Amino acid sequence: MVHLNDLTVTVIGAGNMGGAVARAIRKAGVGAERLVLLNSSEESTAKAARGIGAASAFEKYGSDATLASAVADSHVIVLGFKPYHLQAMAPKIAPHVQEGALIVSLLAGASLETLSEAFNGHTALVRAMPNTPIAVGKGVVGLMPGEQTSESERELARALFAQSSTVVDIPEHQVHGVIGAAGSAPAYFFLIAEVMIDEAVAQGFTRAVATDLVVGTMVGSASVLHETGEAPTSARYAVTSPGGATAQAIAALEEGGIRALMARGMRAAAETSRKMEER
Ligand SMILES: NC(=O)c1ccc[n+]([C@@H]2O[C@H](COP(=O)([O-])OP(=O)(O)OC[C@H]3O[C@@H](n4cnc5c(N)ncnc54)[C@H](OP(=O)(O)O)[C@@H]3O)[C@@H](O)[C@H]2O)c1
Repeated sequence: MVHLNDLTVTVIGAGNMGGAVARAIRKAGVGAERLVLLNSSEESTAKAARGIGAASAFEKYGSDATLASAVADSHVIVLGFKPYHLQAMAPKIAPHVQEGALIVSLLAGASLETLSEAFNGHTALVRAMPNTPIAVGKGVVGLMPGEQTSESERELARALFAQSSTVVDIPEHQVHGVIGAAGSAPAYFFLIAEVMIDEAVAQGFTRAVATDLVVGTMVGSASVLHETGEAPTSARYAVTSPGGATAQAIAALEEGGIRALMARGMRAAAETSRKMEER
């Protein structure tokens, strides 16, 4: 059992994703005073800290040597800035990291090897690939611990995300598959929702009613799979009477190539992520 309320956690770069992860960490039990945020300016940090219910590193440690003091004081350091800032940020962070502190990187495309080099061979290292629904406490996160990261450090990383996400441990080489299946996937579902809402409007519903119909059905369908563990095929059979409306709808979607198209989209996301990492 990991006790998070005794830990000090600093999120460096609490923007869209770092901010969502900071909320997840608050939800996991880290207190407002012990969750410290640090953005590029005092103003932006204060705004994020107010919005999330966390402390500003500038207020807590003063405006001189803010980053160094925050890092030196932290049991967990979350990297939430853009990947292209790593080269400039790492030398400012690395000398101050406590020996046993856990570094959690959200940086897409920065491998464990790159991170280990950037942080002078620090071993308590976990890459995390969350998706945006973590912002509402329903994310999915792929965790990739470093080879030398201990079991208790891995458990700590899981505990940070567990209240707001489905946590999946993956080997690092599968990160691109995670991007195809989860990282980019909210956008596929948003697109499907958009198309269905437009069609419901075309069939005469107001946009508000169309949205209720489609989004409510999406939430309900996801809950069926999530809460019962039923396989998608069997859940679909339960809605599909022989010769009925659903059977005709499914036949039309299959004729349009829905399976191949979804697979192609997922493969395109994974492939693009792979190429980005090679650059
Ligand atoms: N968005 C996603 O779906 C997603 C998914 C998985 C992983 N990621 C990863 O998450 C990371 C952040 O992406 P994002 O979309 O959240 O970007 P973002 O909203 O632009 O956030 C970047 C954050 O970094 C801060 N920052 C910039 N320079 C800094 C400095 N010198 N010191 C401290 N903080 C600094 C920014 O602060 P200011 O606001 O003050 O400039 C901002 O809070 C990236 O590495 C990305 O690969 C994103």
